Amino acid sequence: MDTLEELNRRGFVEESIDPTLDLFDEIEKLKKEKNAIVLAHYYQEPDIQDIADYIGDSLGLSQEAAKTEADVIVFAGVHFMAETAKILSPEKTVLLPDVKAGCSLADSCPPHLFKKFKEKYPDHLVITYVNCTAELKAMSDIVCTSTNAVQIVESLPKEQKIIFGPDKNLGAWVAKKTGRDLVLWNGACMVHEIFSREKITKLKERHPNAKFIAHPECEEAVLQMADYIGSTTGLLNYSVKSDAMEFIVATESGIIHQMEKANPGKTFIPAPPNNNCACNDCPYMKRNTLEKLYLCLKNGTPEVTVPADIIAAARKPIERMLEISASFGL
Ligand code: 13P
Ligand code: SF4
Repeated sequence: MDTLEELNRRGFVEESIDPTLDLFDEIEKLKKEKNAIVLAHYYQEPDIQDIADYIGDSLGLSQEAAKTEADVIVFAGVHFMAETAKILSPEKTVLLPDVKAGCSLADSCPPHLFKKFKEKYPDHLVITYVNCTAELKAMSDIVCTSTNAVQIVESLPKEQKIIFGPDKNLGAWVAKKTGRDLVLWNGACMVHEIFSREKITKLKERHPNAKFIAHPECEEAVLQMADYIGSTTGLLNYSVKSDAMEFIVATESGIIHQMEKANPGKTFIPAPPNNNCACNDCPYMKRNTLEKLYLCLKNGTPEVTVPADIIAAARKPIERMLEISASFGL
């Protein structure tokens, strides 16, 4: 049986917090004391975005994790992102506010099944979307994110055969954009597959001047309706550059916080899911709270670790992604 200390180290013990503490001040103090940096994905709750030293999409966060001089990285995101930070900066301590912040897309591709899948295509190069486990990255030739997937495929010779996983929707979009015939793993993100084409059509009728913008993890039927398709950073930049005053946004709702901050006076409407739940909130991303972030900085747990052999194998495809991205100015 695990000891209390072990459960605490793994982040399974809940600790109460003095309600009179100003968590924003306390987190700032702890960051200085521990030489820590807080990296947050756009899908985090607004308070976490506001306390972060860097907010970004998966590519920006990887680039930041590779170059930071902090001793401690608090990764306000999900497990595969914290693992990527650890792989790029193995000498640093990487903390994840909630150890259960996983990812349905990463879960949709178990490494032992992907290994068998890969064996069926021995002459294919393997490109994996960063939303996967470290073990899967270790089996890959190049990692990609939604910002650079098209450029990474285009950087390869036309005759190169490619397996793309785990997201079939992103893979299908990349195949369409590049004209390449990719072998796709059948995985998906539960948040991006929930949007209803029918409800979006009705919403567009009520907001005829609104631009409909979507993340490429959405299904093709939804992407077909989009005025713009891009990564979270791409969607944010589009909202700034566009003259439109209204946007219907098909991705996780956390990005709307930055869109509103960057665009006073513009309106952002979350695209409706196909039922009545708050399904375009990612339940994994939203496991992190300001309270858990404070506790993880204070206690130095939960810590994300990756076995040394997996770090060694997974580092190459991630570094290859960073090199190709840099050559495209991304
Ligand atoms: P990007 O950060 O590349 O936009 O991907 C979104 C996502 O699903 C992260 O989990
Ligand atoms: Fe994973 Fe989807 Fe959540 Fe992103 S939004 S972390 S892909 S479940």
